[in-house]
Amino acid sequence: MRFLTGITTTGTPHLGNYVGAIRPAVQASRRTGTENFYFLADYHALIKCDEPARIQRSTLEIAACWLAAGLDPERVFFYRQSDLPEVTELTWLLTCVTGKGLLNRAHAYKAAVDKNVAAGSDPDADVTAGLFMYPVLMAADILLFKAHKIPVGRDQVQHIEMARDMAQSFNHLYGEHFVAPEAAVDESVAMLPGLDGRKMSKSYDNIIALFAPREQMRKQIAGIVTDSRAPGEPKQVEGSALFQIYQAFASQEETEALRRAYADGIAWGEAKQLLFERIDREIAPMRERHDALVGNPAELERILREGVDKARALARPFMAELRSAVGLRHLASRAVPASAKAAKAALPVFKQYREADGRHYFKLVDADGRLLAQSTGFESPQQAGRTVAQLKKSGFGAGGSALQLAPGVVAGDVEAALRTLAQGD
Ligand code: TRP
Repeated sequence: MRFLTGITTTGTPHLGNYVGAIRPAVQASRRTGTENFYFLADYHALIKCDEPARIQRSTLEIAACWLAAGLDPERVFFYRQSDLPEVTELTWLLTCVTGKGLLNRAHAYKAAVDKNVAAGSDPDADVTAGLFMYPVLMAADILLFKAHKIPVGRDQVQHIEMARDMAQSFNHLYGEHFVAPEAAVDESVAMLPGLDGRKMSKSYDNIIALFAPREQMRKQIAGIVTDSRAPGEPKQVEGSALFQIYQAFASQEETEALRRAYADGIAWGEAKQLLFERIDREIAPMRERHDALVGNPAELERILREGVDKARALARPFMAELRSAVGLRHLASRAVPASAKAAKAALPVFKQYREADGRHYFKLVDADGRLLAQSTGFESPQQAGRTVAQLKKSGFGAGGSALQLAPGVVAGDVEAALRTLAQGD
C-alpha cells in the first residue's frame, strides 16, 4: 500500500498545521508495511504566490519543519516536486485526456469565477491557467507513483476524485497503467482554534507560529483571547480556545487536571503559562533541530537530492512506459496495439441500422472496414439484436440463414471474424 501527500510551500507552519497535518503524518510514516511519499509541492505554490524569495524561504522552512518533527528521509520518500521533470511531463499527458468541463467544475476555480461574477467583473478576471490546471498537476503527483491512499483535508477530496477520473480515462485509451487513488480523510484529527477562537489560519491572522523563538511563542500564547473572569472565579472549558489547544498537546490526565483547575478558578495568566510549558515540552527539541536545518540549507539540499534520486528511480522508467503507451516512442519500435482502444479497433464490428423500408438490419464489417456480411430485414431492433447476440455466441451457423455474404466473402471468413470478436470480449 502506498500513501502519498503533498505540502504546498507557501507560508510558515503554525501550530494548526502541526496538530492537523504534520504530527499525524509523521506518526503514520512510522507504520510498517506501507510506502510513504511526502513532497514539497512547490509548483503548486507558484499558483498562489509570485514572490520568488517567499517561495524559496517557505520551501526551506517547510522542509526543515517536517524533518524536525521527526520525518525520517531514510524510511520515506521525501522530495521536492520541482526536482522531478517527470511530474510536468505527465501533467501534459493527463491534460490531453482530461475534459475541460471536468476542470470547470473544480471548487477552487469555480469559487474564483463566482467571486468575479458577483463583483460584476469578467468571469475569468485574474484567473490564471495555472489555477485552472491545478487538479491536473496534482493528479500527476499522485499517478506518477501509483499511490493508493492520499491523506488530505476535506477540501482536497474533489481533487483526488478528479485524479481517479484522469487515471480511468487514460487507462481506457491506452491500457492499464495507472492505479486509481483514494482520498483518506482522517476525521479524528483535531481542528485547532487560533488566538481568537476561530480556526487557526494565516488568513485570519490568529496563528501561533510552530517554530518562532521561545519567548515569542510565550508572547503569542499570552495573546489568546479569554473572557474577563477574575482569578478565583470558576472558568468554563466549553468554548475556551486555550483549553482546546492544551488538549491537543496534553495527555488525558493532564487535560483532566486543567479541567479541575478551571473549575477551581485558575487565573488566566497561570493557565497560559501552563499551556506554554506544555507546548514547549513537545516543541523545544524539534525547534533546535529546525533551527539547525534552517541554518544549514546545503544539508537540506543534500537530503532533498537523495530523496529525489530515490523517487526518480521509480518515476523515470514509469514515464518511459507512459510515453511509449501514447505513441511517443522510437520510430523503429514495433507498433503493438498496447491499448484497449487500439485492440478494439483491430476487431470486426456489427453495425445495426434501419432502412427506408422500415425494417431493421445489421451488417458485419471487419477491422479494415470491409463489408463481410449483411442481414435480412427484421421487424424490430430487438429481433436484429438477438440475432447478433446469437451469432457472437454460437458462430455463423447460429444465425447464418439471416446473413447474406458480401461478394468475395466465404462463410469461413465470417466464422473467423466471429471468433476474433469472441476473444476480444
Ligand atoms: N493541493 C494540496 C493542498 O493544497 C497539496 C498537494 C499537491 C497534494 N499535490 C498533492 C496533496 C498530491 C496530495 C497529493 O493541500
